[in-house]
Amino acid sequence: MTDHTPVPYAGPTRVLSGVQPSGALHLGNYLGALVKFARLQHEMDTFIFVADLHAITVWQDPALLAQQTREIAAAYLAAGLDPAKATIFPQSAVREHAELAWIFQCVARLGWLDRMTQFKEKSGKHKERSSVGLYTYPVLQAADILVYKATHVPVGEDQKQHLELTRDIAGKFNHDFGVQGFFPQPEPLIQGPGARIMSLRDGSAKMSKSDPSDYSRINLTDDADAIAAKVRKARTDPEPLPETLEELGARPEADNLVGIFAALAGRTKAEVLAEYAGKGFGTFKPALADLAVDKLAPVGERMRSLLADPAEIDRILKAGAERASEVAAPTVAEVKKLVGFWGA
Ligand code: TYM
Repeated sequence: MTDHTPVPYAGPTRVLSGVQPSGALHLGNYLGALVKFARLQHEMDTFIFVADLHAITVWQDPALLAQQTREIAAAYLAAGLDPAKATIFPQSAVREHAELAWIFQCVARLGWLDRMTQFKEKSGKHKERSSVGLYTYPVLQAADILVYKATHVPVGEDQKQHLELTRDIAGKFNHDFGVQGFFPQPEPLIQGPGARIMSLRDGSAKMSKSDPSDYSRINLTDDADAIAAKVRKARTDPEPLPETLEELGARPEADNLVGIFAALAGRTKAEVLAEYAGKGFGTFKPALADLAVDKLAPVGERMRSLLADPAEIDRILKAGAERASEVAAPTVAEVKKLVGFWGA
């Protein structure tokens, strides 16, 4: 009998993630992604890129794209990423992402992509007018991850389905080409209260770059007054904070604010409730505003000072792209051999 147990991946652990340069970063990006990147760089070899190839799946003004890329890089650095520890680079500067993505387009199945909820949300009523890239977007994401044979991918909860697709593509590639254990099955790192930050205006909608209301989100570039005003105006209910997580779960706006507090303070929601149960938003909101200003205003300030020296950011991105290529190129060379291309 043939043994079909997958051979586990035996290579080194490696972290990879990215953020699209398609608009101002907000608190959800910060807590769901950037904070985790900065922590993980001390634990594993870390690759963090600016997803500019993904950004152009919807229209981006060519006159602004390079600057938007620098802004994301500045946010990474302001959040604590250290270019001596983490490899920071623009996705488009490492051609192997696009090259592997094509091969993966021939591995992934249409049925798998048809199930992707983010495409349905982003294309809305205008599916036939969406770019083909918006549809195949998760395949490029799989290539981003697997070209470095990354084993750990810190992301917010909205990326969970894309990570499942990445695992499916890795498994099918390994199986089809008879190379069990060639690509790892990357693990999403999603847990924690910052994994799904909701809009400040509607506890049932995700905090998002594309929400027309600026009061729905706290931007990383907001100053202290704007941050405090947005927390003050956040939608809530009239009840005091409850004792238990079950009661909190039934109140989406309250749940979101307690989650934001917990994530910013590095505590659990239960710990926050233990302190604030029975207190109203008249007490809780000013405490949250102070905490948010304390944690976020310095990040915005660091971003602004880093952006005053774009040549230094460009130097970091260029060095990162060179280092990333050194890891990505051998993977693509091996893949081309496995596929059987001429000259590979
Ligand atoms: P993007 O640019 O939409 O978002 C960047 C990161 O922020 C997280 N995030 C949130 N986390 C908590 N609450 C929210 N409201 C919230 N909104 C966004 C996202 O989950 C993400 O981690 N497809 C990715 C970029 C990407 C990528 C990759 C990520 C491309 N290739 C490979 C990891 C690995 C995206 O569009 O993220």
